[in-house]
Amino acid sequence: MDATVLAFSGLGATAVVASLARLRRRLQLSHAKHRSLTGHARMSRRIAALIPFYDYGEDRFFCSDAAPPEVASRRRDGFARLADLYATRFAATARQTAEVAGSISDVQFTDAYRVPFQYSRHVRTHLRAGTFVQASDGVTITDLDGNRFYDLTGSYGVNLFGHDFYKGSMERGLARVRDLGLMLGPYHPVVADNVRRLTKISGLDEVSFHMSGTEAVMQAVRLARYHTRRRYLVRFCGAYHGWWGDVQPGVGNPQPARDTLTLADMSEQTLAVLRTRRDIACVLVNPLQALHPNGAAPADTSLVDGARAAQFDKAAYADWLKRLRAVCSERGIVLIFDEVFVGFRLAPGGAQEYFGVRADLVTYGKTVGGGFPVGVVCGRRDLMKRFRDDRPADICFARGTFNAHPAVMGAMSEFLAFLDTPKARALYGNSLDERWNDRAARLNGRLAAEGLAVRVANLSSIWTVCYTKPSRYNWMLQYYLRAEGLALSWIGTGRLIFSLDYSDADFEAVADRFVAAARAMERDGWWWCDPAATNKSIRRGILKEMIAQRWASLRGRRAA
Ligand SMILES: Cc1ncc(COP(=O)(O)O)c(C=O)c1O
Repeated sequence: MDATVLAFSGLGATAVVASLARLRRRLQLSHAKHRSLTGHARMSRRIAALIPFYDYGEDRFFCSDAAPPEVASRRRDGFARLADLYATRFAATARQTAEVAGSISDVQFTDAYRVPFQYSRHVRTHLRAGTFVQASDGVTITDLDGNRFYDLTGSYGVNLFGHDFYKGSMERGLARVRDLGLMLGPYHPVVADNVRRLTKISGLDEVSFHMSGTEAVMQAVRLARYHTRRRYLVRFCGAYHGWWGDVQPGVGNPQPARDTLTLADMSEQTLAVLRTRRDIACVLVNPLQALHPNGAAPADTSLVDGARAAQFDKAAYADWLKRLRAVCSERGIVLIFDEVFVGFRLAPGGAQEYFGVRADLVTYGKTVGGGFPVGVVCGRRDLMKRFRDDRPADICFARGTFNAHPAVMGAMSEFLAFLDTPKARALYGNSLDERWNDRAARLNGRLAAEGLAVRVANLSSIWTVCYTKPSRYNWMLQYYLRAEGLALSWIGTGRLIFSLDYSDADFEAVADRFVAAARAMERDGWWWCDPAATNKSIRRGILKEMIAQRWASLRGRRAA
């Protein structure tokens, strides 16, 4: 063999070794993905694009599960009763909503996605939900018709201490900065106090202010990439981190997020990937996932069966975070806790305190603005720095016209100061979880005693509703709850968020209404199901409908 051949065979061997290494990495990554569609961002987008529209007209609406005529007729009567009630009780609210809906894309979207799409048109026509409210008071809100509802929306999680608290913090916060008015760029002195409190709460060195949780997450990830000089962001299956493209690689974002890896939560295979790859800049954790690891936000629009499940195991999740922390430290990966939702809700020191694990960067938002829009990043000094001393042109840019807006900073200072008061300490106390766990258990006891096919699961004051029957109609419960005077956000029974000012009496009133709604749902036959039905068989049936629909539309197109 001459020298040239030897050199080529050496090169060939190197190429084979490199290919094998690549294959191994690829396989390792595949193993670390959650087996659900949610765990496969690209695939889920492709499949979503194939799902055809079809809906059940009035004839199938009440018996899409092949219910016997007697049950379908009970459902029809129940639906008609609800439709009458909605038409009279919510008339002004629905009218105002209809007037603006054509001009507000957000309203059109939320209206279309309250229930599975096959049922949506019929529901929208007859059960107009309405998006306007005129006042809040204690734990209630009032719509344009003067109906008072117990507020279970939690204003997307912002409302932690109760409406009256935020009215006060917004007003006093504005009063504090009135002399400055609109002055952006230089800071109002109140900022210094906010920074002092935030560094103490987070246990981290520096702070940056932004206008939303989404922006705070963008900045935290950008800093992690800048300082590690690595490319990939790891997020966990199902976790929400705002609507920036890189943290929403699946359905909802038309552009593939090439630098994001979506891995399985609480998984050894995920730890193996983190341990072996050198291109991972950061791991983003939304501690809310502790309630449903690897599950997406539980919206009623995807409630086509009874498979929604949730269960919070604090010790198991804390243990997972500790192991994740250790691997990130070992591999120089930046661990980011996205506490935009749970921060301050679980403990005054947030998820770090609650689970006993420290992150390198923490994002906060929602409630910390004291009622105004905000995003915050707290972090280690070395990670927060936006320039390099030895490379002056290599900077990590981040600005925002309204960052540290005086009104937001004023209200934030009210919020942060409140955390130090005896009143706040009493609200959290040692028994915050006990209080909410106890309330959830009491409600579940009542539901079980009456043989109703519904239960709640909770992470402290954040609740989700689960169903014990493989029914196709579980999403109807949201309309019965509203009829009983319980206000839910547009994702329906997937997320109930309580403010901490709910007294025992308030909670009992909510529980009474919840049970009454479930009773009506049972009476009207929505929980009838074929004894042979399972969640799997329901999903299989829906898949068959979709395939038939797609096939019919392909044939129709060909014929045309
Ligand atoms: C964990 C988490 N991160 C980020 C965001 C985005 O925050 P914002 O809606 O303020 O942009 C949210 C919003 O719900 C969130 O829950």
